[in-house]
Amino acid sequence: GKVAVMFGGRSAERAVSLRSGQAVLNALVGAGVNAHGFDPADRQLHELVEQKFDRVLIMLHGRGGEDGSLQGALQQMNMPYTGTGVLGSALCMDKIRSKQVWQSLGLPTANYEIADKRDFNAANCGDIMTRLGDLVMVKPAQEGSSIGMAKVSNAHQLSAAIQQAFEYDDKVLLEQFIQGSEYTVSLLNGIALPSISMSTPRDFYDYEAKYQSNSTQYFCPSGLSDEQETDLAQLALNAFDAVAGSGWGRIDFMQDAQGQFYLLEANTVPGMTEKSLVPLAAKQAGLSFAQLSLAVLATAG
Ligand code: DAL
Ligand code: MG
Repeated sequence: GKVAVMFGGRSAERAVSLRSGQAVLNALVGAGVNAHGFDPADRQLHELVEQKFDRVLIMLHGRGGEDGSLQGALQQMNMPYTGTGVLGSALCMDKIRSKQVWQSLGLPTANYEIADKRDFNAANCGDIMTRLGDLVMVKPAQEGSSIGMAKVSNAHQLSAAIQQAFEYDDKVLLEQFIQGSEYTVSLLNGIALPSISMSTPRDFYDYEAKYQSNSTQYFCPSGLSDEQETDLAQLALNAFDAVAGSGWGRIDFMQDAQGQFYLLEANTVPGMTEKSLVPLAAKQAGLSFAQLSLAVLATAG
């Protein structure tokens, strides 16, 4: 069959998607798959049918590709696609809604509040800092790759960061910053790959640390004990299931100084760039980038 690798798109993560998609496309073509790039920013979906594609590998990050809307359109066209379906894609795109689901199931996630553009009052920022603690992460509800995010330590910074995040989304997550280490668990077909821990000299694991910096350190194996690794893997699988994730994905965590893990978010189309995390975890598990790409493709059905 003929495979469309969808990448590019119009979201703020377009540049990341171009890197992820090109890498996956090259790997599939190298493995003998009849695959072609397809950028929905300059093509219409009906071309998938006209050009006789029979499956789509979604490598679009962010809104319009990762948020369920594309998944719904493809479903209506009877066009099989990779990864999570409509409900899970929409839920996972929204960091606030994902946390609400996890919280309702008793899964651990940091304390938070919501800033809504329609009724935001900067005068409340002092009280918010008092309730959430010394450091607060400000995140547009529906973004990726740390775009629009800031880490703040006082009311003035909080107010400015919220205004900046409103440029990306009308709803903004204000989350207690968990001081400790950041971990991620990649999931493939119901199996957790080895966890990774990340460390950056920057203020947090931001866009530059993710895609541009050479000073970000990645540890895989992450150094957790066998018992902690097993617990974290189970937590990641439960969290992904709770937000209707399927096929493949990646769950991000913070670990506090006491060793407790907190869920940050679920990514249903995680990055596949040369600096990305899922390929690193797969490699540690003995899967090459090409094998990983084929496994992701096989989730289309
Ligand atoms: N949103 C980026 C692509 C990631 O989760 O890897
Ligand atoms: Mg993300």
